Amino acid sequence: MDTGSIATPCYVCDEARLIRNLELLATLQKRTGCAVLLALKAFAMFSTFPLMRRYLAGTAASSLFEARLGSEEFGAQVHLCAPAYKESEFDQLLALSNHVVFNSFSQWRRFKARVEAIGRGTRCGIRVNPEHSEVDTPIYDPCASNSRLGVRRKDFEPGSLEGISGLHFHTLCGNDSDALARTLESFERKFGEFLPAMTWVNFGGGHHIARDGYDFEGLCAIIERFRERHAVEIFLEPGEGIVMDAGILVASVLDVLPNGTVILDASASAHTPDVLEMPYRPDVSGAGSPGELEYTYWLGGPTCMAGDVFGQYSFDQPLEIGSRIVFEDMAPYTMVKNTMFNGVALPGIAIREAETGGIREIRRFDYQDYRGRLS
Ligand SMILES: Cc1ncc(COP(=O)(O)O)c(C=O)c1O
Repeated sequence: MDTGSIATPCYVCDEARLIRNLELLATLQKRTGCAVLLALKAFAMFSTFPLMRRYLAGTAASSLFEARLGSEEFGAQVHLCAPAYKESEFDQLLALSNHVVFNSFSQWRRFKARVEAIGRGTRCGIRVNPEHSEVDTPIYDPCASNSRLGVRRKDFEPGSLEGISGLHFHTLCGNDSDALARTLESFERKFGEFLPAMTWVNFGGGHHIARDGYDFEGLCAIIERFRERHAVEIFLEPGEGIVMDAGILVASVLDVLPNGTVILDASASAHTPDVLEMPYRPDVSGAGSPGELEYTYWLGGPTCMAGDVFGQYSFDQPLEIGSRIVFEDMAPYTMVKNTMFNGVALPGIAIREAETGGIREIRRFDYQDYRGRLS
């Protein structure tokens, strides 16, 4: 991709790759009869929603703002699931959402009467915790001990299910379908007895469906077999699995220090927070591991945070002021999660159009965006 002409830093969504991912998800829905929702927490670049709407059943929202964005910009179904809802927002949430999932029976009891009174046909569900961990990073493991996410079997209240039509679990993070199979074993062992009274089950996100090598056939078989065992609609709400490898972050070198560190105009901490939170070392186009190619550098950001560093990489040419650095796989959990720490400008948002191959800038952020978040 020729990124030479765009102002940096900039996230560039790759429309052709996005379409490839979406076609895979359309196949999954057609083959298995499940419905796939876009988890907005991972990706909410709404200028792509008219395209995504052609392939997906709707959005999965985790807050009032996401529910509104899903309803107004995506349309179709909005499925809401959050650890708790606020009294002051609940009526708006109900007006925007087709499905509302409660994280505890106390929340369900608190809002049940409001659901019944407003009566828009909203389908309500309970998020359960199958207590089966498949994720190694504890902060991303919803089944870690002391997790606040989902009702455990010992706290499940069979007597409070009137008005509940579905169960939801979310336990995975970047997993293959074998992890879903093991999760379902635990889910059915603990909660299977309640499924005859349900009309839908949401398998959450964390399915790395569009990753090369993902066991897609395995996923289809798992869903098909589950539907043979239980007469329920199945929803999946991946985020990363829909937009993986469908975007890059383009940065420019601002300085090269004597100790071999390069300062970029993109920040690990402000613009790709998962790099530090997970943590992981993102791939850089054309770069090798340290020492692999002739010139090795640490790539760091422009903020004052000492740890604002992407990692160490090698290149076959020396980097100099103005050199371009392209971070790969930067569509998920970047634009939705970035900050303006240090007053550093947010990266622009652009799209590389599938038809022409040309890059079109959609949004640039300026001082007013920074000032507008403060008072
Ligand atoms: C409830 C729920 N659904 C869906 C997702 C999307 O997960 P992913 O982007 O890993 O597919 C998450 C991510 O945290 C989540 O918490």
